[in-house]
Amino acid sequence: MAEIPYTIDLSGRVALITGAAKGIGLSTAQLLARAGAQVALDDLVPAEKITEVLESIRKENKDAEPHYFCQDISTPEGARILIEQVLDQCGRIDFLINNAGVVADWDKSWAVHVKGPYYMAEAVKDHMAQRGSGRIINISSTAAFTGSTGIPQYAVSKGGTCSLTRYLARTYAPLGILVNGIAPAVIKSDMLMARYKDEQALLDHYVPMMPIRRIGYPEDIARIVLFLCSELSSYLCGEIIVADGGRMHVG
Ligand SMILES: NC(=O)c1ccc[n+]([C@@H]2O[C@H](COP(=O)([O-])OP(=O)(O)OC[C@H]3O[C@@H](n4cnc5c(N)ncnc54)[C@H](O)[C@@H]3O)[C@@H](O)[C@H]2O)c1
Repeated sequence: MAEIPYTIDLSGRVALITGAAKGIGLSTAQLLARAGAQVALDDLVPAEKITEVLESIRKENKDAEPHYFCQDISTPEGARILIEQVLDQCGRIDFLINNAGVVADWDKSWAVHVKGPYYMAEAVKDHMAQRGSGRIINISSTAAFTGSTGIPQYAVSKGGTCSLTRYLARTYAPLGILVNGIAPAVIKSDMLMARYKDEQALLDHYVPMMPIRRIGYPEDIARIVLFLCSELSSYLCGEIIVADGGRMHVG
């Protein structure tokens, strides 16, 4: 992708990204590191399988060692321990990106897309409130608005992510914490590829119905996260940014 013709400097800041071993989460960690942030990545993948991921982040930012944590954010304990561990090892958390996601049954979908982001937000709230600043970004999906097809538990729980974003935005704004969301669609990742035999099949299916005549890639979403972490977005509060190449509104 073309370089961004504007400098956002996040040096000295710490970003915690959940579901960061691959896909949108990994791309977000790489881009925030490129902008100077120290990044803390969380996922369910064992630490020994993450060495290449961490190496890709060291290439983006030689001044800040990335940290990897392996906690399940869908449980209150996992979320609490994760925030404690990141604060212990990185000293602060400026940005929380609730990105972990699954296509699973009803209970798990609800736990990962709604309860987990709530547990995470509550666990980091006091720390951010003490400084009077912080950003929380929840990754939802356009499925929340369209209903999607065949995966009601995904669409409904992502609707919960949007409502949670509004609740947290309203509740945390007086503390100096801005909460916003992103609703992506058609981003090439393992989650999307699981439904297609190869990339060509994915392109054949989607490109004709995409107004911008291309699908999305993880960095398309990472760039919006970067914007939401920057001062450029300091007047956004409780917003859900639809990022789908125009498909939902003008497709
Ligand atoms: N790819 C798309 O087209 C698309 C569209 C809309 C929304 N999204 C959302 O974007 C986010 C990232 O998705 P992706 O496409 O990169 O998928 P992905 O499957 O590549 O990555 C999701 C990551 O979340 C991790 N994860 C799942 N449960 C977890 C838990 N309990 N604790 C910690 N980590 C956990 C997984 O291990 C995985 O690495 C998800 O919330 C997804 O629902 C993706």
